[in-house]
This record gives sequence, structure tokens and C-alpha cells, in this order.
Amino acid sequence: MFFILALLFGQLFATKVNVMLPLRTVSNDGNLDESVAQRFPILKNAGVNGVMVDVWWGIVEKTPKTYNFKPYLRLAQLCQQNGLKLQCVMSFHQCGGNVGDDCNIPIPSWAKNNANVFYRDAHGHDDTEVISLDVDEETVLQGRTPRQVYKDFMEAFALGMGSFMGSVIEEIQVGLGPCGELRYPGYQLDRWSFPGVGEFQAFSPRMKELFANASKQAGHPEWTSPPTDAGSYNSRPDETSFFTNGYRSAYGNHFMNWYTQLLIDHGRRILTDAVSIFKPLGVGVAMKVSGIHWWYNHASHAAELTTGYINGGFSTQDFYSRIASLCAELGVVVDFTCFEMSNNEQSQDAKCAPENLVYQVLMACKNANVAMSAENALARYDATAYNRIITNACNRGGKVAAFTYLRLTDNLVYNGQNLNEFKRLISTIRNC
Ligand SMILES: *[C@@H]1O[C@H](CO)[C@@H](O)[C@H](O)[C@H]1NC(C)=O
Repeated sequence: MFFILALLFGQLFATKVNVMLPLRTVSNDGNLDESVAQRFPILKNAGVNGVMVDVWWGIVEKTPKTYNFKPYLRLAQLCQQNGLKLQCVMSFHQCGGNVGDDCNIPIPSWAKNNANVFYRDAHGHDDTEVISLDVDEETVLQGRTPRQVYKDFMEAFALGMGSFMGSVIEEIQVGLGPCGELRYPGYQLDRWSFPGVGEFQAFSPRMKELFANASKQAGHPEWTSPPTDAGSYNSRPDETSFFTNGYRSAYGNHFMNWYTQLLIDHGRRILTDAVSIFKPLGVGVAMKVSGIHWWYNHASHAAELTTGYINGGFSTQDFYSRIASLCAELGVVVDFTCFEMSNNEQSQDAKCAPENLVYQVLMACKNANVAMSAENALARYDATAYNRIITNACNRGGKVAAFTYLRLTDNLVYNGQNLNEFKRLISTIRNC
């Protein structure tokens, strides 16, 4: 009796393994590549719980408030037929221009028409992959605020997917920035290369005004501009005055607290809406944090700072703890990446420490008592990477609720050795 109960319990709390579908599963003109489903029986047989797909804003809402969810309905049906769950990402960002992007799906052209809705860096470059968080509550998208646009989209999705919600679709990951992650586009691939520090994205006229206002409120009207001494995308921290000393000054603390707080406020707004829409349908909500592992061991955590992640050396709590608390409060799962990365495989010159970063986030989630799910950042098929994933997911004091493998390829399912290695990964993680 006890044994059977233990077995049932084990199944209930077993770590789930999901697999991300290719970025181009649904084409720019809204067609589902149904051949993807030929791999579903192999995944199911390997012990996979479900697949994850991006629901692209740029594909679904080509005209304001007119939504095409047809390809996703068909995909949900194919998942159901194969006994797989479907996790959907509300992808309010552009596909293309980031690591691993083999696609080109811009945000809808009607949303791109307004030039004043984008992030701008100190050099005057606008990034058009995502709408800037500073206009969340401004009526800038043809009579609607971005927040309203995202809310309308999620409501339409919930309605459009009908009875699949809460059955086949058990979790929604909510896009909150570039790559769907809650972050600033600090390291755009067309100007940045590893391991540059990236650039702050706080120089649009409105962001500058917001910052000047915040400075006045803090009793420092002389702090009118975000830092202009933080180098450029490909600088190293020690080449800049901001990442050497500036970040530790009263001004640096003030700027960083402001920059990080905007990000957290944005997350709270959009996630609150998502929770109110999806939770009543029995569908979980998740959000994603980016894995900025370079310069982690530099005192400034420079690359994390341009991304918007305060960490170490500041008067307030680090970003990861604050996000864990926020998600605990809202009942949202924290999704984190880099699980396959070992310190000794990364550049020590760039002070990379992915293992330490993963551990910090694991502990932040454990302390906040919030569910965490894990991903690998880059495509790997080898035992070294998989053993690192197993160690991180099972043996470092915080158990993850799910692991999502990036990403489904023919090389994963049609290569016998790769598939066997993957099966070993799945069965180990499920039982950890
Ligand atoms: C900055 O403060 C001024 C004065 O209070 C206000 O009129 C303006 O709207 C504020 N700017 C922004 C972008 O909130």
C-alpha cells in the first residue's frame, strides 16, 4: 500500500520534461508545418511530457484585434492525438536577431509604425524587436496601450483555444521582452558580440525624462541623464568608468535601482493580467529570466546590469530574489536557462560563471518557495552537457518542476546515439 502511494506520489511530483518546437513551426503567413508531428510519437515514447511553441504576435495579429489562431488549434489537436501537452509562449517579440534564431518574424507592422515606442541606447540606436516597457500604459498602439494589446491578445488566445485550455494546454509562458525574457535588449546581436558588456537601453526621449523625474524626486535634480560613461556594446568592464567605479556611486545606485525597478514593475503588470486570464481556466503561468553568465565574476556584474539585473554591490536585493518573490506572490513559475553550461567550458577571461549563476537562481527560488523550471541555452547532444543538466536540476539543493529541452531537431530524434542519450537524460531527471 505504502509502496503504491509512494509510486503515485512520485509520479505526481516527477519533474516534467518538455521539448521546444522549431521556431518556424508556424510560418510567417500562418501555416503550420504538420510534418513536425511525425516526431511526436518518438518524443512520447522517450517519456516527454509535452512540447513548447511560440505563438508569434507578428503572425497572429497582422491586423489590430483580428487574430488567427488556426495553426495553433491544429497543433493542439496533433498534440492531443499523441498524448502530449502543449506549452504556449505569448511571444510579443520579434523572431530573428538573437542566438539560435533561424527565422524572421517582426512584430506587427501596425505596431512598428510609431517610432516613439522603442528602446534607444546612448548612441541613438533604436531596437525594434520589442515595444519598450516605458510605454506600457501609454496609448501608443492605434488607440490602445501595449498593456491592453497584450491583454486583448491573451484573452483572445484563451477564448480561441477553447477546450484545449486546461487540458492539452497546461501552461502559458508570457513574453516580457526580447526573446520573451524579462530583460532589456542590452546585447543585440547585430552590434554586440560575446563577451561585451552591452549597453543600457534608457535613452529614448521618454525614458530620459522618466529618469530625470525620478532623480528630482530623489532630491538629485542634477542627475538628468542615464550613464554615458558605460562604454559601448563590446567594451570590457575595466575599460569603462561606470563598471569600474560609477555603479558603486550614489548616482550609479540610483540609476541601477530605477532601471531594474522599471523591469520588475513591467513584469508585475503583464503577469498580473496573464494570471487573471489563465489561472481561472486551470492553466499555469510562467515567465522567463535570461541567463547572463559573462562578467558574473566581475565585481560590477556589468553584463547583468545593462540587461537590467542588479546583482551584488547594491543597497537593494538582487534582481533574481526580487523576481522570485514577485512570482511567489503571483503564483507564477520562474523559468531559467544555462542548465547545461559548465564553468570550465566558458571563458574565464570574460569571468563567466554559469554554474554559480544557476545556483544563485535555484536558491532564490527555493527561498521564495516558488516553482522553477529549467532550460538549456544552446543545442547540445552530449553526455557532458546532460550530466551538468542533471546535476543542476537534481542535486544542488533546489528541485526543478520541469525541464524544457531546446530544441527539437532531426539530429535529436533520428540519430540513434543522440536519442538514447536524450532518453537517459529524461528518465534521470524524471526520477530525481
Ligand atoms: C515628468 O515630470 C513632469 C512634471 O511633474 C510631468 O509633467 C511629466 O509628465 C513627467 N514625465 C513623464 C515621462 O512621466
